[in-house]
Amino acid sequence: MKFKILEKLDLKAPCSILLIPVLQDKVLENPLVARIDRALRGVIAQLADQENFKAKTRQSLNFNTMGKIGPKRVCLLGLGAAEKLKHETYRRTGGLGADWLRKFRAEDATVVCQVPKGIKLTVGDIAGAVVEGLRLGLYRFDKYKSKDDGEPPYGGPGGGSLFCCDARGKVMKGVKPTLEAAVRRALTLAEGVITARELVNEIPEVMTPAELAERARKLSSGIKDLSCRILDEKEMAAEKMDAALAVGRGSENRPRFIELLYEPPKVPKTAPLFAMVGKGVTFDSGGLNIKAGEAMATMKMDMSGAAAVISAITIIARLGFPLRCAAVVAAVENMPSGRSYRPDDIVRAMNGTTIEVGNTDAEGRLTLADALSWAIHKLGAARVIDLATLTGACVVALGKTTAGIFGNDPGWLATVQQASAEAGEKCCNLPLDEDMKEDIKSEIADVKNISATRSGGAITASLFLQKFVKETPWVHLDIAGPAWAEKKRHYEPVGGTGYGIRTLVRLAESLAAKSGE
Ligand code: BES
Ligand code: MN
Ligand code: ZN
Repeated sequence: MKFKILEKLDLKAPCSILLIPVLQDKVLENPLVARIDRALRGVIAQLADQENFKAKTRQSLNFNTMGKIGPKRVCLLGLGAAEKLKHETYRRTGGLGADWLRKFRAEDATVVCQVPKGIKLTVGDIAGAVVEGLRLGLYRFDKYKSKDDGEPPYGGPGGGSLFCCDARGKVMKGVKPTLEAAVRRALTLAEGVITARELVNEIPEVMTPAELAERARKLSSGIKDLSCRILDEKEMAAEKMDAALAVGRGSENRPRFIELLYEPPKVPKTAPLFAMVGKGVTFDSGGLNIKAGEAMATMKMDMSGAAAVISAITIIARLGFPLRCAAVVAAVENMPSGRSYRPDDIVRAMNGTTIEVGNTDAEGRLTLADALSWAIHKLGAARVIDLATLTGACVVALGKTTAGIFGNDPGWLATVQQASAEAGEKCCNLPLDEDMKEDIKSEIADVKNISATRSGGAITASLFLQKFVKETPWVHLDIAGPAWAEKKRHYEPVGGTGYGIRTLVRLAESLAAKSGE
């Protein structure tokens, strides 16, 4: 999708839909709306009154212009109250606009971005957020929909135009380069999020460990300074990744290890490496501790962390941030069979730690044990973040919209929290409570993969991971809730959300800026 920046808003120029975000209770005070109202002889005033349109958040007023002006339709999108405007408000407004484009299968769209008086956000912030929400909201996973079941899938408009103006509706001078950069960045980010959604939404029969590795290779090929290395099962065994291999043993679809490395030549090889580790369980049946009924559905999403780090590093490399960065995934499928690993088995992770298997459904931490070890001991990462759909307990604790965030280093934790706040991806800090370490003690091995108690499952899982990072600054994001949407919300359709990518890119950007100081 491409956006053209307009120098003026020509109401005679034809387009499918004109989208105008408007402030609550100020519909006709908006000079552009007033201009269109005049051109349409007061229709907006009447409609707004009849339909009780106040421009509250999520409210919209949509009407056909009956050929009186260039745009076939005008759609006013409620922004809510001026005091409450944030990046996220504009992203959601973009998502609302996308719903209307879809409803009318618009071929093109003109989007108005007006900068209200006395707001902290810049015109670039606003335009970027609206475009991001619009693009994300247009996405659907429809490759398995037959073309002939009535409506063919709608891929979104071919292109769009953007008109940015001040509170009086006058075009802003000298902002075109800023706007172009903001729109380019928003579209790059959105495409990256969509790439991850595609990986997550693909059916598990197709999205095997080998396929995930192949997609990682394809996605990274042709990007400057980005390399891809894939290990097969034998090579993983040679590296002693027996914890990850144990999880994958029950499946016909054999494990793969994925490493993407971004090393721009302008950054010395001695500079600290930032490693992003993603849980890559392509399907989690639970293994021999098989998941019952409902619980197994949607477990194709158990590689959402992997999808996020793979997509994020391609964006980071494309944007050319000056830092060294890696994405690491141990990709496996967790299945029951005669070859499966069992409860009571003991496996040895790459770093030598022995793990007693208490439950084969607590498999993510085993795969992460080896992926974290690789990032730290093989790649020598100075800072690590992992993203994992790790525990149902985290969803119980925080719900579907917020990730759990854990960290062993206050400075690094704060840096990640800052990035996530700026990216508009919610997370909530949970403790690595030392007193709960005894819950994952094993009588016969160094650690056990399940807790002795039923409580605090997200915390005990994190304490387990901590064993494999020791003192290296590390943050763990449990994304089991926000990685998957059961219901459509704002700019997220049902399915994989791509949660985490915007945080990772923002984080890499902030690290690159710090190292350049
Ligand atoms: N992949 C699941 C966690 C999960 C649950 C993700 C729901 C998304 C939605 C994980 O591998 C798992 O099965 N965890 C178990 C751990 C338990 C056996 C200690 C859980 O949360 O029930
Ligand atoms: Mn599991
Ligand atoms: Zn899992």
